Amino acid sequence: MTSAHGRIGLKKVVLLVTAIVGIGAALVWASSEVAGPRPFTFPGDWSKVPSKTITLFYPAQASWEFLVSPEHPGAEPLKTGQVACATCHEGRQAELGASLVKHAKLEPDPIAGKRPTLDLSVKAAFDAQYVYFRFEWESREPGVTHTLWRYDGKKWVRWGGPKPDVSKKGVPPSYEDRLAVLIGEPDTIPAYDGAQVTFSQAGCFITCHNSMRAMPKEPSKQALSAHPYWGAAGKKRDDIRKYLLISRTAQDEAGAWDKVKTPQELEALRKAGKFLDLWQWRAARSNPLGHAGDDYVLDYRWFDKGKNTFTSPGEPKWMYDRTTMGFSAIPEADLPKMLEKFPLITGKNAVAFDPAASFKEGDILPHPVLQAPTESIADVLAHGVWKDGKWTVELRRKLNTDQPDDKALVPGKVYDIGFSVFEDRVSNRRHLVTLPPVTLGLGVDADIKAVKVP
Ligand code: HEC
Repeated sequence: MTSAHGRIGLKKVVLLVTAIVGIGAALVWASSEVAGPRPFTFPGDWSKVPSKTITLFYPAQASWEFLVSPEHPGAEPLKTGQVACATCHEGRQAELGASLVKHAKLEPDPIAGKRPTLDLSVKAAFDAQYVYFRFEWESREPGVTHTLWRYDGKKWVRWGGPKPDVSKKGVPPSYEDRLAVLIGEPDTIPAYDGAQVTFSQAGCFITCHNSMRAMPKEPSKQALSAHPYWGAAGKKRDDIRKYLLISRTAQDEAGAWDKVKTPQELEALRKAGKFLDLWQWRAARSNPLGHAGDDYVLDYRWFDKGKNTFTSPGEPKWMYDRTTMGFSAIPEADLPKMLEKFPLITGKNAVAFDPAASFKEGDILPHPVLQAPTESIADVLAHGVWKDGKWTVELRRKLNTDQPDDKALVPGKVYDIGFSVFEDRVSNRRHLVTLPPVTLGLGVDADIKAVKVP
Protein backbone atom coordinates (compact mmCIF):
# COMPACT_ATOMS: atom_id res chain seq x y z
CA MET A 1 0.00 0.00 0.00
CA THR A 2 1.48 3.32 -1.01
CA SER A 3 1.48 6.22 1.37
CA ALA A 4 -0.03 8.41 -1.36
CA HIS A 5 -3.34 6.83 -0.53
CA GLY A 6 -3.13 8.09 2.98
CA ARG A 7 -4.15 6.20 6.02
CA ILE A 8 -5.77 2.92 5.30
CA GLY A 9 -8.70 1.44 7.06
CA LEU A 10 -11.51 3.06 8.89
CA LYS A 11 -10.56 6.05 10.90
CA LYS A 12 -11.35 6.16 14.51
CA VAL A 13 -14.92 5.31 15.14
CA VAL A 14 -16.44 7.16 17.98
CA LEU A 15 -18.73 4.56 19.30
CA LEU A 16 -21.35 5.23 21.82
CA VAL A 17 -22.12 1.80 22.99
CA THR A 18 -25.05 3.06 24.92
CA ALA A 19 -26.12 -0.15 26.50
CA ILE A 20 -25.79 -3.83 26.18
CA VAL A 21 -29.24 -4.97 26.94
CA GLY A 22 -29.72 -8.43 28.28
CA ILE A 23 -32.85 -9.21 26.26
CA GLY A 24 -31.77 -12.28 24.38
CA ALA A 25 -28.66 -11.47 22.38
CA ALA A 26 -29.81 -7.98 21.47
CA LEU A 27 -27.01 -5.50 21.36
CA VAL A 28 -28.15 -1.91 21.51
CA TRP A 29 -25.55 0.28 19.96
CA ALA A 30 -25.20 3.56 18.22
CA SER A 31 -22.19 4.31 16.13
CA SER A 32 -21.92 8.05 15.68
CA GLU A 33 -19.17 8.04 13.07
CA VAL A 34 -17.48 5.70 10.60
CA ALA A 35 -14.88 7.29 8.37
CA GLY A 36 -12.49 6.15 5.66
CA PRO A 37 -9.07 7.71 5.07
CA ARG A 38 -8.78 11.15 3.50
CA PRO A 39 -6.47 10.64 0.51
CA PHE A 40 -6.79 14.16 -0.96
CA THR A 41 -7.59 17.70 0.03
CA PHE A 42 -10.24 19.72 -1.76
CA PRO A 43 -8.50 22.93 -2.89
CA GLY A 44 -11.66 25.07 -2.58
CA ASP A 45 -14.26 25.73 0.09
CA TRP A 46 -17.25 23.39 -0.20
CA SER A 47 -19.42 25.79 1.79
CA LYS A 48 -19.12 28.24 -1.13
CA VAL A 49 -20.07 25.69 -3.80
CA PRO A 50 -23.81 25.63 -4.60
CA SER A 51 -25.54 22.34 -3.93
CA LYS A 52 -28.23 20.68 -5.99
CA THR A 53 -30.69 18.31 -4.39
CA ILE A 54 -31.84 15.53 -6.66
CA THR A 55 -34.67 13.18 -5.72
CA LEU A 56 -33.82 9.58 -6.56
CA PHE A 57 -36.60 7.00 -6.86
CA TYR A 58 -36.90 3.22 -6.68
CA PRO A 59 -37.18 1.80 -10.24
CA ALA A 60 -38.18 -1.83 -9.46
CA GLN A 61 -37.99 -3.85 -12.71
CA ALA A 62 -38.69 -0.89 -15.04
CA SER A 63 -36.27 -2.12 -17.71
CA TRP A 64 -35.57 -0.57 -21.09
CA GLU A 65 -37.68 -3.36 -22.61
CA PHE A 66 -40.64 -2.27 -20.43
CA LEU A 67 -40.12 1.42 -21.22
CA VAL A 68 -40.34 0.92 -24.98
CA SER A 69 -43.18 -1.61 -24.77
CA PRO A 70 -46.91 -0.89 -25.28
CA GLU A 71 -47.30 -1.28 -21.49
CA HIS A 72 -45.57 2.07 -20.97
CA PRO A 73 -47.74 4.99 -22.14
CA GLY A 74 -44.61 7.07 -22.81
CA ALA A 75 -42.98 4.50 -25.13
CA GLU A 76 -43.67 6.00 -28.55
CA PRO A 77 -42.85 9.64 -27.66
CA LEU A 78 -39.70 8.40 -25.86
CA LYS A 79 -38.48 6.61 -29.00
CA THR A 80 -38.64 9.82 -31.05
CA GLY A 81 -35.82 11.27 -28.97
CA GLN A 82 -37.79 14.52 -28.74
CA VAL A 83 -38.77 14.04 -25.09
CA ALA A 84 -37.03 12.78 -21.97
CA CYS A 85 -38.33 10.87 -18.94
CA ALA A 86 -38.59 14.16 -17.05
CA THR A 87 -40.78 15.70 -19.78
CA CYS A 88 -43.62 13.57 -18.46
CA HIS A 89 -42.48 12.56 -14.96
CA GLU A 90 -40.67 15.65 -13.60
CA GLY A 91 -41.49 16.38 -9.99
CA ARG A 92 -43.29 13.05 -9.70
CA GLN A 93 -40.42 10.91 -8.45
CA ALA A 94 -42.24 10.41 -5.15
CA GLU A 95 -45.28 9.07 -6.99
CA LEU A 96 -43.17 6.78 -9.18
CA GLY A 97 -41.18 5.46 -6.22
CA ALA A 98 -44.25 4.90 -4.04
CA SER A 99 -45.96 2.98 -6.82
CA LEU A 100 -42.88 0.94 -7.80
CA VAL A 101 -41.83 -0.33 -4.34
CA LYS A 102 -45.00 -2.43 -4.30
CA HIS A 103 -45.94 -2.59 -7.97
CA ALA A 104 -48.13 -5.56 -8.93
CA LYS A 105 -46.21 -6.18 -12.18
CA LEU A 106 -42.88 -4.40 -11.89
CA GLU A 107 -42.01 -5.55 -8.35
CA PRO A 108 -42.53 -9.30 -7.92
CA ASP A 109 -40.32 -9.49 -4.80
CA PRO A 110 -40.89 -6.38 -2.66
CA ILE A 111 -38.76 -5.45 0.35
CA ALA A 112 -40.83 -4.57 3.39
CA GLY A 113 -40.27 -0.96 4.39
CA LYS A 114 -38.18 -0.12 1.32
CA ARG A 115 -37.90 3.62 0.95
CA PRO A 116 -39.41 4.89 -2.32
CA THR A 117 -37.22 8.01 -2.72
CA LEU A 118 -34.00 9.50 -1.43
CA ASP A 119 -32.73 13.07 -1.63
CA LEU A 120 -29.15 13.23 -2.83
CA SER A 121 -27.37 16.52 -2.43
CA VAL A 122 -24.59 17.08 -4.98
CA LYS A 123 -21.82 19.65 -5.25
CA ALA A 124 -19.19 19.64 -7.99
CA ALA A 125 -16.01 21.55 -8.72
CA PHE A 126 -12.90 21.34 -10.85
CA ASP A 127 -9.40 22.77 -11.00
CA ALA A 128 -6.71 22.53 -13.67
CA GLN A 129 -6.26 18.81 -13.11
CA TYR A 130 -9.20 17.24 -11.31
CA VAL A 131 -12.97 17.09 -11.03
CA TYR A 132 -14.41 16.88 -7.48
CA PHE A 133 -17.80 15.81 -6.20
CA ARG A 134 -19.33 16.01 -2.77
CA PHE A 135 -22.45 13.98 -2.04
CA GLU A 136 -24.65 13.85 1.03
CA TRP A 137 -27.61 11.62 1.80
CA GLU A 138 -29.43 10.35 4.80
CA SER A 139 -28.78 6.79 5.86
CA ARG A 140 -30.05 5.41 9.12
CA GLU A 141 -27.13 3.02 9.56
CA PRO A 142 -23.71 2.77 7.95
CA GLY A 143 -23.71 -0.23 5.59
CA VAL A 144 -19.96 -0.81 5.91
CA THR A 145 -19.99 -4.61 6.01
CA HIS A 146 -20.49 -6.78 2.94
CA THR A 147 -20.80 -10.54 2.50
CA LEU A 148 -19.24 -12.56 5.34
CA TRP A 149 -17.87 -15.88 6.48
CA ARG A 150 -19.27 -17.32 9.73
CA TYR A 151 -17.77 -20.18 11.73
CA ASP A 152 -20.54 -22.56 12.74
CA GLY A 153 -18.39 -24.46 15.24
CA LYS A 154 -17.14 -26.94 12.63
CA LYS A 155 -16.70 -25.10 9.36
CA TRP A 156 -16.85 -21.68 7.77
CA VAL A 157 -20.08 -20.93 5.91
CA ARG A 158 -21.08 -18.04 3.64
CA TRP A 159 -22.99 -15.45 5.70
CA GLY A 160 -24.60 -12.07 5.19
CA GLY A 161 -25.78 -11.00 1.75
CA PRO A 162 -28.43 -8.64 0.43
CA LYS A 163 -32.09 -8.09 1.25
CA PRO A 164 -34.55 -9.56 0.48
CA ASP A 165 -32.74 -12.78 -0.57
CA VAL A 166 -30.94 -13.70 2.65
CA SER A 167 -33.69 -12.50 4.97
CA LYS A 168 -35.84 -15.29 3.53
CA LYS A 169 -33.20 -17.81 4.64
CA GLY A 170 -33.06 -16.38 8.14
CA VAL A 171 -29.59 -14.90 7.63
CA PRO A 172 -29.11 -11.32 8.88
CA PRO A 173 -28.54 -9.08 5.83
CA SER A 174 -25.05 -7.63 5.46
CA TYR A 175 -24.35 -5.71 2.26
CA GLU A 176 -22.49 -2.49 1.62
CA ASP A 177 -23.90 0.96 0.89
CA ARG A 178 -22.91 2.28 -2.53
CA LEU A 179 -23.04 5.39 -4.65
CA ALA A 180 -22.69 5.09 -8.43
CA VAL A 181 -22.03 7.80 -11.00
CA LEU A 182 -22.67 7.16 -14.71
CA ILE A 183 -21.27 9.66 -17.24
CA GLY A 184 -21.56 10.18 -21.01
CA GLU A 185 -21.30 12.92 -23.62
CA PRO A 186 -24.58 14.41 -24.90
CA ASP A 187 -26.32 12.64 -27.79
CA THR A 188 -23.50 10.24 -28.54
CA ILE A 189 -24.82 7.01 -27.00
CA PRO A 190 -27.99 5.85 -28.79
CA ALA A 191 -30.25 3.50 -26.84
CA TYR A 192 -29.84 0.93 -29.67
CA ASP A 193 -28.49 0.95 -33.22
CA GLY A 194 -30.36 3.57 -35.24
CA ALA A 195 -32.21 4.98 -32.20
CA GLN A 196 -33.23 8.64 -31.95
CA VAL A 197 -33.36 8.36 -28.17
CA THR A 198 -30.00 8.46 -26.40
CA PHE A 199 -28.44 8.49 -22.94
CA SER A 200 -29.28 12.22 -22.93
CA GLN A 201 -33.04 11.63 -22.71
CA ALA A 202 -33.25 8.22 -21.05
CA GLY A 203 -30.12 8.11 -18.90
CA CYS A 204 -29.25 4.95 -16.97
CA PHE A 205 -32.46 3.29 -18.18
CA ILE A 206 -30.80 2.49 -21.54
CA THR A 207 -28.38 0.20 -19.63
CA CYS A 208 -31.05 -1.71 -17.72
CA HIS A 209 -32.38 -4.90 -19.31
CA ASN A 210 -34.69 -7.82 -18.58
CA SER A 211 -31.81 -10.31 -18.73
CA MET A 212 -29.84 -8.78 -15.88
CA ARG A 213 -29.50 -10.13 -12.34
CA ALA A 214 -32.81 -10.11 -10.42
CA MET A 215 -34.67 -9.09 -13.57
CA PRO A 216 -37.60 -11.01 -15.13
CA LYS A 217 -35.71 -12.79 -17.93
CA GLU A 218 -32.43 -13.64 -16.28
CA PRO A 219 -30.78 -16.47 -18.28
CA SER A 220 -29.93 -19.72 -16.48
CA LYS A 221 -26.35 -20.47 -15.43
CA GLN A 222 -26.38 -23.33 -17.95
CA ALA A 223 -27.46 -21.04 -20.79
CA LEU A 224 -24.69 -18.63 -19.88
CA SER A 225 -21.97 -21.22 -19.55
CA ALA A 226 -22.90 -22.76 -22.93
CA HIS A 227 -22.77 -19.38 -24.68
CA PRO A 228 -19.64 -18.89 -26.83
CA TYR A 229 -19.03 -15.29 -25.67
CA TRP A 230 -20.26 -15.35 -22.04
CA GLY A 231 -19.56 -18.98 -21.22
CA ALA A 232 -16.77 -21.27 -20.11
CA ALA A 233 -14.94 -20.79 -23.43
CA GLY A 234 -15.26 -17.00 -23.34
CA LYS A 235 -15.73 -14.35 -20.66
CA LYS A 236 -16.72 -16.88 -17.93
CA ARG A 237 -19.64 -14.82 -16.62
CA ASP A 238 -22.37 -16.32 -14.52
CA ASP A 239 -24.69 -13.33 -14.76
CA ILE A 240 -25.52 -10.40 -17.02
CA ARG A 241 -24.91 -6.86 -15.78
CA LYS A 242 -25.64 -3.39 -17.22
CA TYR A 243 -25.02 -3.00 -20.95
CA LEU A 244 -25.78 -0.89 -23.98
CA LEU A 245 -27.93 -2.32 -26.77
CA ILE A 246 -25.51 -0.84 -29.32
CA SER A 247 -23.29 -3.77 -28.31
CA ARG A 248 -25.94 -6.18 -29.61
CA THR A 249 -26.86 -7.27 -33.15
CA ALA A 250 -30.61 -7.30 -32.42
CA GLN A 251 -33.24 -6.57 -29.76
CA ASP A 252 -35.65 -8.91 -28.06
CA GLU A 253 -37.81 -9.14 -24.96
CA ALA A 254 -34.95 -10.41 -22.80
CA GLY A 255 -32.74 -7.53 -23.94
CA ALA A 256 -30.72 -9.64 -26.43
CA TRP A 257 -28.23 -10.75 -23.78
CA ASP A 258 -26.95 -13.49 -26.11
CA LYS A 259 -26.74 -11.44 -29.33
CA VAL A 260 -23.38 -9.78 -28.76
CA LYS A 261 -21.50 -8.13 -31.61
CA THR A 262 -18.04 -9.43 -32.53
CA PRO A 263 -15.03 -8.45 -30.39
CA GLN A 264 -13.82 -6.32 -33.33
CA GLU A 265 -17.11 -4.43 -33.45
CA LEU A 266 -17.09 -3.92 -29.68
CA GLU A 267 -13.55 -2.59 -29.81
CA ALA A 268 -14.56 -0.17 -32.58
CA LEU A 269 -17.40 1.11 -30.37
CA ARG A 270 -15.06 1.59 -27.44
CA LYS A 271 -12.55 3.45 -29.61
CA ALA A 272 -15.35 5.71 -30.84
CA GLY A 273 -16.25 6.54 -27.23
CA LYS A 274 -19.55 4.64 -27.39
CA PHE A 275 -19.50 3.54 -23.78
CA LEU A 276 -20.37 5.05 -20.41
CA ASP A 277 -18.00 5.71 -17.54
CA LEU A 278 -19.20 4.32 -14.21
CA TRP A 279 -17.69 5.07 -10.81
CA GLN A 280 -18.83 3.06 -7.85
CA TRP A 281 -18.04 4.21 -4.37
CA ARG A 282 -18.37 1.19 -2.11
CA ALA A 283 -18.72 1.65 1.64
CA ALA A 284 -17.11 -1.73 2.42
CA ARG A 285 -15.10 -2.65 -0.67
CA SER A 286 -13.43 0.66 -1.62
CA ASN A 287 -13.96 3.41 0.98
CA PRO A 288 -11.58 1.89 3.58
CA LEU A 289 -8.83 2.25 0.93
CA GLY A 290 -9.73 5.87 0.13
CA HIS A 291 -11.02 4.86 -3.29
CA ALA A 292 -14.11 4.48 -5.40
CA GLY A 293 -14.14 1.71 -7.98
CA ASP A 294 -13.88 2.59 -11.67
CA ASP A 295 -15.95 0.64 -14.20
CA TYR A 296 -17.34 1.18 -17.68
CA VAL A 297 -20.47 0.00 -19.46
CA LEU A 298 -20.48 -1.33 -23.01
CA ASP A 299 -21.43 -4.98 -23.61
CA TYR A 300 -21.31 -5.57 -19.82
CA ARG A 301 -20.48 -3.61 -16.73
CA TRP A 302 -16.74 -4.26 -16.75
CA PHE A 303 -14.20 -3.19 -14.20
CA ASP A 304 -11.55 -0.89 -15.64
CA LYS A 305 -8.10 -2.33 -16.28
CA GLY A 306 -5.96 -3.09 -13.24
CA LYS A 307 -6.05 -4.77 -9.88
CA ASN A 308 -9.44 -4.26 -8.24
CA THR A 309 -9.98 -2.86 -4.74
CA PHE A 310 -11.13 -6.30 -3.55
CA THR A 311 -11.04 -10.01 -4.19
CA SER A 312 -13.72 -12.46 -3.02
CA PRO A 313 -12.14 -15.92 -2.68
CA GLY A 314 -14.44 -18.95 -2.63
CA GLU A 315 -13.10 -20.01 0.77
CA PRO A 316 -11.53 -18.11 3.68
CA LYS A 317 -8.03 -17.22 2.53
CA TRP A 318 -7.28 -14.39 4.93
CA MET A 319 -7.89 -13.55 8.55
CA TYR A 320 -7.01 -10.64 10.83
CA ASP A 321 -3.42 -10.42 12.02
CA ARG A 322 -3.74 -11.29 15.69
CA THR A 323 -0.37 -9.74 16.56
CA THR A 324 -1.52 -6.25 15.54
CA MET A 325 -5.31 -6.54 15.79
CA GLY A 326 -5.60 -8.70 18.89
CA PHE A 327 -7.96 -11.16 17.21
CA SER A 328 -8.13 -13.46 14.18
CA ALA A 329 -11.89 -13.07 13.63
CA ILE A 330 -14.70 -10.92 15.06
CA PRO A 331 -17.35 -12.48 17.31
CA GLU A 332 -20.70 -11.71 15.64
CA ALA A 333 -22.17 -10.05 18.73
CA ASP A 334 -19.27 -7.59 18.75
CA LEU A 335 -19.46 -6.66 15.07
CA PRO A 336 -21.66 -3.57 15.47
CA LYS A 337 -19.16 -1.98 17.81
CA MET A 338 -16.11 -3.09 15.82
CA LEU A 339 -16.97 -1.56 12.47
CA GLU A 340 -13.80 0.52 12.52
CA LYS A 341 -11.73 -2.65 12.73
CA PHE A 342 -13.77 -4.58 10.16
CA PRO A 343 -11.94 -3.86 6.86
CA LEU A 344 -9.51 -6.71 6.11
CA ILE A 345 -6.71 -5.40 3.92
CA THR A 346 -3.87 -7.43 2.44
CA GLY A 347 -0.47 -5.94 3.14
CA LYS A 348 -1.99 -4.16 6.12
CA ASN A 349 -3.92 -6.15 8.74
CA ALA A 350 -4.56 -9.46 6.93
CA VAL A 351 -2.54 -12.66 7.25
CA ALA A 352 -2.99 -15.96 5.42
CA PHE A 353 -5.94 -17.91 6.84
CA ASP A 354 -4.75 -20.56 9.27
CA PRO A 355 -7.30 -23.34 9.80
CA ALA A 356 -5.40 -24.33 12.96
CA ALA A 357 -6.05 -20.95 14.59
CA SER A 358 -8.62 -21.12 17.36
CA PHE A 359 -12.09 -19.96 16.34
CA LYS A 360 -15.37 -19.93 18.22
CA GLU A 361 -18.86 -20.53 16.92
CA GLY A 362 -20.22 -17.24 15.55
CA ASP A 363 -16.83 -15.85 14.58
CA ILE A 364 -17.03 -13.59 11.55
CA LEU A 365 -14.56 -12.83 8.76
CA PRO A 366 -15.19 -10.48 5.83
CA HIS A 367 -15.75 -12.34 2.56
CA PRO A 368 -14.24 -9.70 0.24
CA VAL A 369 -10.67 -8.85 1.14
CA LEU A 370 -9.34 -5.43 0.21
CA GLN A 371 -6.14 -4.65 -1.67
CA ALA A 372 -4.54 -1.52 -3.09
CA PRO A 373 -5.94 -0.98 -6.63
CA THR A 374 -3.68 -0.34 -9.63
CA GLU A 375 -3.86 1.19 -13.14
CA SER A 376 -7.20 2.51 -14.37
CA ILE A 377 -9.20 1.04 -11.46
CA ALA A 378 -7.27 3.34 -9.12
CA ASP A 379 -8.37 6.58 -10.85
CA VAL A 380 -11.09 7.73 -8.46
CA LEU A 381 -10.09 8.70 -4.93
CA ALA A 382 -12.75 8.89 -2.24
CA HIS A 383 -13.33 10.07 1.26
CA GLY A 384 -16.55 8.87 2.85
CA VAL A 385 -17.81 9.57 6.35
CA TRP A 386 -21.00 8.31 7.93
CA LYS A 387 -21.97 10.47 10.85
CA ASP A 388 -25.22 10.89 12.75
CA GLY A 389 -27.41 9.22 10.13
CA LYS A 390 -25.82 10.79 7.07
CA TRP A 391 -23.18 9.83 4.51
CA THR A 392 -20.88 12.52 3.15
CA VAL A 393 -18.77 11.25 0.27
CA GLU A 394 -16.18 13.22 -1.68
CA LEU A 395 -14.70 11.95 -4.93
CA ARG A 396 -11.78 13.18 -7.00
CA ARG A 397 -10.68 12.11 -10.46
CA LYS A 398 -8.36 13.55 -13.10
CA LEU A 399 -10.35 15.46 -15.71
CA ASN A 400 -8.49 13.42 -18.29
CA THR A 401 -7.07 10.10 -17.11
CA ASP A 402 -5.81 9.19 -20.60
CA GLN A 403 -7.19 5.70 -20.04
CA PRO A 404 -9.11 3.96 -22.85
CA ASP A 405 -11.86 2.89 -20.42
CA ASP A 406 -12.59 6.39 -19.05
CA LYS A 407 -14.38 9.51 -20.29
CA ALA A 408 -12.32 12.68 -20.32
CA LEU A 409 -14.12 15.72 -18.89
CA VAL A 410 -13.38 19.03 -20.57
CA PRO A 411 -13.91 22.43 -18.90
CA GLY A 412 -16.64 24.44 -20.69
CA LYS A 413 -18.56 21.32 -21.71
CA VAL A 414 -21.80 19.74 -20.53
CA TYR A 415 -22.17 16.00 -19.81
CA ASP A 416 -25.08 13.71 -19.09
CA ILE A 417 -24.83 12.16 -15.68
CA GLY A 418 -26.85 9.73 -13.58
CA PHE A 419 -26.57 8.72 -9.93
CA SER A 420 -27.72 5.80 -7.88
CA VAL A 421 -27.59 5.01 -4.19
CA PHE A 422 -27.69 1.56 -2.64
CA GLU A 423 -28.75 1.66 0.98
CA ASP A 424 -30.26 -0.61 3.60
CA ARG A 425 -28.33 -3.75 2.54
CA VAL A 426 -29.38 -4.30 -1.04
CA SER A 427 -27.77 -5.31 -4.32
CA ASN A 428 -28.28 -5.19 -8.11
CA ARG A 429 -31.53 -3.46 -9.17
CA ARG A 430 -32.62 -2.50 -5.65
CA HIS A 431 -31.08 0.95 -5.72
CA LEU A 432 -32.55 4.43 -5.97
CA VAL A 433 -31.91 6.24 -9.25
CA THR A 434 -32.14 9.64 -10.92
CA LEU A 435 -34.95 10.58 -13.29
CA PRO A 436 -33.20 11.53 -16.57
CA PRO A 437 -31.99 13.89 -17.78
CA VAL A 438 -29.44 15.24 -15.32
CA THR A 439 -26.59 17.30 -16.71
CA LEU A 440 -23.21 18.32 -15.37
CA GLY A 441 -21.56 21.50 -16.69
CA LEU A 442 -17.89 22.21 -16.08
CA GLY A 443 -17.95 25.93 -15.41
CA VAL A 444 -21.09 26.28 -17.52
CA ASP A 445 -24.78 26.16 -16.66
CA ALA A 446 -26.35 22.73 -16.24
CA ASP A 447 -28.44 20.93 -13.60
CA ILE A 448 -25.21 20.59 -11.65
CA LYS A 449 -22.72 23.34 -12.32
CA ALA A 450 -19.18 22.36 -11.35
CA VAL A 451 -17.43 25.54 -10.27
CA LYS A 452 -13.80 26.38 -10.94
CA VAL A 453 -11.58 26.27 -7.86
CA PRO A 454 -9.56 27.49 -6.08
C1 HEC B 1 -44.45 11.07 -23.24
C2 HEC B 1 -44.56 10.93 -21.80
C3 HEC B 1 -43.66 9.93 -21.12
C4 HEC B 1 -42.32 9.76 -21.25
C5 HEC B 1 -41.36 10.49 -22.15
C6 HEC B 1 -41.96 8.76 -20.29
N1 HEC B 1 -43.05 8.30 -19.64
FE1 HEC B 1 -43.09 6.93 -18.17
N2 HEC B 1 -45.09 6.98 -18.15
C7 HEC B 1 -45.85 7.91 -18.80
C8 HEC B 1 -47.26 7.73 -18.44
C9 HEC B 1 -48.41 8.59 -18.92
C10 HEC B 1 -47.28 6.66 -17.52
C11 HEC B 1 -48.50 6.07 -16.79
C12 HEC B 1 -48.91 6.98 -15.66
C13 HEC B 1 -47.87 7.04 -14.61
O1 HEC B 1 -47.62 6.02 -13.97
O2 HEC B 1 -47.28 8.14 -14.41
C14 HEC B 1 -45.92 6.23 -17.36
C15 HEC B 1 -45.51 5.19 -16.54
C16 HEC B 1 -44.22 4.92 -16.21
C17 HEC B 1 -43.81 3.93 -15.25
C18 HEC B 1 -44.70 2.97 -14.51
C19 HEC B 1 -45.14 3.65 -13.26
C20 HEC B 1 -46.20 2.86 -12.52
O3 HEC B 1 -46.36 3.16 -11.34
O4 HEC B 1 -46.84 1.98 -13.09
C21 HEC B 1 -42.46 4.01 -15.16
C22 HEC B 1 -41.55 3.17 -14.29
C23 HEC B 1 -42.04 5.04 -16.07
N3 HEC B 1 -43.13 5.57 -16.70
C24 HEC B 1 -40.72 5.42 -16.23
C25 HEC B 1 -40.30 6.26 -17.25
C26 HEC B 1 -38.92 6.48 -17.58
C27 HEC B 1 -37.75 5.95 -16.78
C28 HEC B 1 -38.88 7.25 -18.69
C29 HEC B 1 -37.68 7.66 -19.47
C30 HEC B 1 -36.77 6.61 -19.92
C31 HEC B 1 -40.27 7.54 -19.04
N4 HEC B 1 -41.09 6.90 -18.15
C32 HEC B 1 -40.65 8.33 -20.09
C33 HEC B 1 -45.41 8.85 -19.69
C34 HEC B 1 -44.11 9.00 -20.10
